[in-house]
Amino acid sequence: MATIRDVAKEAGVSVATVSRVINKKGYVNEETRDRVHRAIKEIGYKPNVIARSLSIRKSNTIALVVPAINNPFFPELARAVEDVAQSKGYKVFLCNTDDRRDRLVGYLESLRENFVEGIIIDSQNVTDNDLENIQRDSIPAIMIDRTLSNQSFSSISVNNHFGGQLATDHLLQVGCQRIGHLRGPDEVVTANHRFWGYRDKVKEFDWFDQSWIALGDFSVKSGYQGMKELFQRHPDIDGVFAANDLMAIGALKAAYEWGCAVPDDLAIIGFDGIDISGLTVPRISTIQQPIYRMGELAMQELLQEMQNPKTEAKHFELEVKLVVRESTMR
Ligand code: RIB
Repeated sequence: MATIRDVAKEAGVSVATVSRVINKKGYVNEETRDRVHRAIKEIGYKPNVIARSLSIRKSNTIALVVPAINNPFFPELARAVEDVAQSKGYKVFLCNTDDRRDRLVGYLESLRENFVEGIIIDSQNVTDNDLENIQRDSIPAIMIDRTLSNQSFSSISVNNHFGGQLATDHLLQVGCQRIGHLRGPDEVVTANHRFWGYRDKVKEFDWFDQSWIALGDFSVKSGYQGMKELFQRHPDIDGVFAANDLMAIGALKAAYEWGCAVPDDLAIIGFDGIDISGLTVPRISTIQQPIYRMGELAMQELLQEMQNPKTEAKHFELEVKLVVRESTMR
């Protein structure tokens, strides 16, 4: 394999000159630069990206850390991050933690070793200590979706609490009188805020107690199992708010097996607005998050902080929107 020395020899210049041309650093006259480029082409030299990152401490890469790559919400977010990153010449490392602390720690370590220039983090497992380490290495980081209370890092989220209220209000408006909730993981901030929104709206009803809530983990399976539990506990249930669309899809399957017609016997609403929630039969009503905009904004903010490390941390809370489809059209 051709080395930087071979290029230098071929072009008749020093290794330092070749390095200045490759790294676009320092003065090299035009004629020499062209000669180096011709030599690179002729002998098929490929700069060692890792060695180059080591020497200039830049990699033209950023990272997106997500908790569950098999949930379409996160690829939809990644799509937006990548679109903006690519348009500015950055590559994206996608790190899936499966909601595990050990994986997150491993990723953060190797991202620092690989000189990523910025990190967008969607994780409930990150600690203040992790963030301090990132800060010590001067790597800008943005929190997205599952944001922490640490105010020194910019964050992008939606009003999950209001979204929970909006979903429950909608079920009440279409005539539901016994509304259950398929709750997301209780260690996840977004799930908790949605649950609180639901609880605000039902807590005054005399039928309401904790038995109307089934705990899940944002997966289709947990929505399915949770819905079955709710049917067993409360055969008179006529509406359900699922903490995300995947759980709503699970509820739809459980309703079908229980012999319960959606929406006439049971109205179902989810949260997220992922594409597949509009492809089920019946299509699922949802509280839509501006997923693409969230990813786009996160990447734009990150770029700003990468260009100007003194940029003040900003906190964005984007709007959610009620999308009414057949699963609640009574
Ligand atoms: O569907 C996955 C959920 O986890 C989304 O609702 C997102 O907001 C997140 O926290």
